[in-house]
Amino acid sequence: MAELRLEELGAETAAAANNLTLKPGQEAFLEPETYEHLEQSLDPANSWPRVVREGDEVVGYIMGNFDPDAPEDFLRAAIWRIDVSGTAQGKGVGRFAVQAFADEARARGFHQATVVWAPGEAGPGRFFEAVGFKVVGQTPYGENLGALAL
Ligand SMILES: CC(C)(COP(=O)(O)OP(=O)(O)OC[C@H]1O[C@@H](n2cnc3c(N)ncnc32)[C@H](O)[C@@H]1OP(=O)(O)O)[C@@H](O)C(=O)NCCC(=O)NCCS
Repeated sequence: MAELRLEELGAETAAAANNLTLKPGQEAFLEPETYEHLEQSLDPANSWPRVVREGDEVVGYIMGNFDPDAPEDFLRAAIWRIDVSGTAQGKGVGRFAVQAFADEARARGFHQATVVWAPGEAGPGRFFEAVGFKVVGQTPYGENLGALAL
């Protein structure tokens, strides 16, 4: 596997990030209902969109949101979206993206990173637990709230 690189989302990479082809059944997990309902309230100035490149190819996308003043803990340093191209999954791309997000959060002075995910066999639960998130609660939509100590 070529070296992985993190790059700020730009005009050239936006389409590639939007068009990453997932594995069958995974699309439904991309945006948890909790986030769907809160999306309008996000300030774009707080977003941290990055792509992961393997060589020249865009193989992953992560969007974080950093807002130290958010009313709820789980919105302060949150992974808002993460996805890895189906053909590149299982090779450490997701872990690399989470580590980059955790490094950024730490550098900004946060002590925990959070993420919300829907439970389900084709969902990302086992991935988030493998990279260190612990389930610390449920959202009103029955989704898992995970936290990673930084
Ligand atoms: C979740 C996702 C980002 C994981 O990316 P990935 O690049 O395949 O993950 P990695 O290869 O970095 O895996 C890291 C660890 O998680 C584990 N893991 C990943 N997916 C797993 C799965 N479905 N079941 C069990 N373990 C899994 C890996 O085994 C690995 O563990 P290890 O390092 O101890 O061996 C990817 O599957 C994806 O894009 N899913 C669809 C979109 C999605 O659900 N996003 C989350 C929205 S909240």
